[in-house]
Amino acid sequence: MNAHDSEKVIGTLEQQGYARVQEEDAAGLILYNTCSIRDKAEQKVFHRLNEYKKLQGEGKKFAVLGCVAQQEGEKIFEKAPYVSMVAGSASYRNLPEMLRRLEAGEERITGLDDRQTDLTFETEFTARSNPHRGYITIIEGCDKFCAYCVVPYTRGKERSRTAASVLVEAKKMVDLGFTEIQFLGQNVNSYRDPSGRMSFAELLVAVGELPGIRRVRFTTSHPRDFTRDIVQAIDDTPTLCDHIHLPVQSGSSAVLKAMSREYTREWYLERMSWIKAAKRDISITSDMIVGFPGETDADFEETITLVGEVKYDAVFAFKFSPRPNTPAVTMADSIPDELKSERLRILMDRQREIQREHYGRHLGEMQEVMVESYNPSRNQVVGRSSQNKTVNFSTAQIAQPPIGSYLSVRITQTLPNCLVGEAIADAEALPFVALQRVADFVVLN
Ligand code: 5AD
Ligand code: SF4
Repeated sequence: MNAHDSEKVIGTLEQQGYARVQEEDAAGLILYNTCSIRDKAEQKVFHRLNEYKKLQGEGKKFAVLGCVAQQEGEKIFEKAPYVSMVAGSASYRNLPEMLRRLEAGEERITGLDDRQTDLTFETEFTARSNPHRGYITIIEGCDKFCAYCVVPYTRGKERSRTAASVLVEAKKMVDLGFTEIQFLGQNVNSYRDPSGRMSFAELLVAVGELPGIRRVRFTTSHPRDFTRDIVQAIDDTPTLCDHIHLPVQSGSSAVLKAMSREYTREWYLERMSWIKAAKRDISITSDMIVGFPGETDADFEETITLVGEVKYDAVFAFKFSPRPNTPAVTMADSIPDELKSERLRILMDRQREIQREHYGRHLGEMQEVMVESYNPSRNQVVGRSSQNKTVNFSTAQIAQPPIGSYLSVRITQTLPNCLVGEAIADAEALPFVALQRVADFVVLN
């Protein structure tokens, strides 16, 4: 989310006539985009800002953007008086105006109070860093108020973009050569088209059916709003990737209640059964928090049994960290840090065992892989499958394929975190786009 925010800010600045430089030394304006989802984000930001202090004499200007900016507000000016602008993500619509004030020499510019707006940030100038695969924000903010989470306070209330505006952006991306689009939002499946034209699943299909699109992904989903038509859409539409990230956070219904997640373990498992009943092998991944206030050994054990039951393909697990303004901050943080670390280790060890075994199902399969990079030391190409798994493969009979092309790869080995394989030289097996590009590459060589 933050990386994509930076792409939007960069695009807006470029449109305003600014040029991007690679080194801080060469910059007249330094914008620092911050995240405050976990850990001691505020401290890290102030520590970093301290380093900017010495650059101040060189006439540079500084802006702090993102969630720490929203959370700390004008306190940033007090602690770091050389900062001229503090703006949260809900105010980026006003960036051009704020930049003009900055240029005019104003010293205390804030964009902090736009979180209750119904307006979304138009993203026509987004400077996407990857030319093949890019994000589209379909929904901003969050109204869920999970007890541990800072997002509703920093990013403001939930607001969806119209389906028409998403489709215009997607078409523009296709024209620019993008083949993979990832819908982005705190809760993409809470999407409500303000024009009432399309459901979330229908929007997925509409973008998936655009000529030129090869892959559509989405992140993140919330179990509460997860509907069966999403699974149906994936089953029916080959371009929709076979991957669903559905954060559970805990396997214990008691902890889920304390977290205000508004579902139980059973409710979540029912959604898992829908996904597992699909015709396609849909990969399931999740986020989990260990050590939420009051989490007992028995609660934690329920998280362990849940990962065994679901058999996730990946789990992103975090130690609970108290965040400012959230209800969980006032609950006694009853779990000592050592116990949180211990639970985190147990969970990750268990998940690694599961992946070691569960990835084995791919052995011998043919998978379509989008090329991402090369690993010269291993003489391997690195790519990604539709399920979002890393695939390291050799290309014995094909010239090094271009980044962004799609190849058919036979999986010859599975490891807990990636697949290993060989690209198939059979031209028939290669999709048309990849063939074109492989040919171009050979000519260029
Ligand atoms: N402490 C620990 N993890 C958190 N997350 C969000 N807030 C917190 C917090 N206060 C995790 C959740 C979420 C992911 C993006 O970050 O698991 O899904
Ligand atoms: Fe945070 Fe919960 Fe909203 Fe996700 S759904 S962004 S965890 S408040």
